[in-house]
Amino acid sequence: MTPDDIETSERAKSKPGVRKRAKEIAPFRCKNLIAVLENPTDIANIGTVIRNVNALGVEKVYVVDPGGSLPEDWQDLRERRTISKTSVSAVKWTFVKRFDSTDACFDHLERNNFVSVVTSPHVKGKTSIFLHEGDFTEHAKLAVWFGSEATGISDLAVSRSSMCVSIPMFGMIESLNLGTSSGIVLYEVAKQRREYQSLYEKRNKRLPRKEPLPTTIAPKV
Ligand SMILES: C[S@@+](CC[C@H](N)C(=O)[O-])C[C@H]1O[C@@H](n2cnc3c(N)ncnc32)[C@H](O)[C@@H]1O
Repeated sequence: MTPDDIETSERAKSKPGVRKRAKEIAPFRCKNLIAVLENPTDIANIGTVIRNVNALGVEKVYVVDPGGSLPEDWQDLRERRTISKTSVSAVKWTFVKRFDSTDACFDHLERNNFVSVVTSPHVKGKTSIFLHEGDFTEHAKLAVWFGSEATGISDLAVSRSSMCVSIPMFGMIESLNLGTSSGIVLYEVAKQRREYQSLYEKRNKRLPRKEPLPTTIAPKV
């Protein structure tokens, strides 16, 4: 069963209001955009990232979990009270997959033609940019990696990525919390990719749409 099948069957079971909302948000989802958490240690942070991913229309979450603290099966993960609670149930609506190692996750992503970028408050690797300088529509399939709370992103992840993205910092504390940084980075990346999807039907700016698609849903009054 694919994530889409699961999602469809979930929707079919759900109340009409939920079904209506699922239909309304579907065109705004950023296909082929994945957030990857490398060795997160705090379950509350995992929940926050899942909530951010769901709210911002990112397609999936991958978690590199060498300690095996998460269940293998996505359905089991959804039943986990701690994650369900911290994600405010967003885990019910979000596809989450775990990997045993950073290499295993990269192998999977690369087999499926995903390009990765890592995030860090520090300059890392050959190419390091600030978030506002990035064009996140260049690659059809993009994975955005976030590092561990204590140690940050690994050298291995940096070496297998195309670049490192930083949110500029102006405070005495030199990094943001994992949940907060994922919200800021994914907001920018998803916004750019939604704008691209709204203007073009195909990759490489082919087939401009006659009428751009909306990029926002009107807020409820
Ligand atoms: C608490 S931080 C890790 C701090 C760690 N001491 C370090 O030096 O990277 C957890 C993760 O949040 C993300 N992050 C935190 N601050 C960031 C920033 N200013 N720019 C980009 N990503 C950031 C990175 O993915 C980082 O690995």
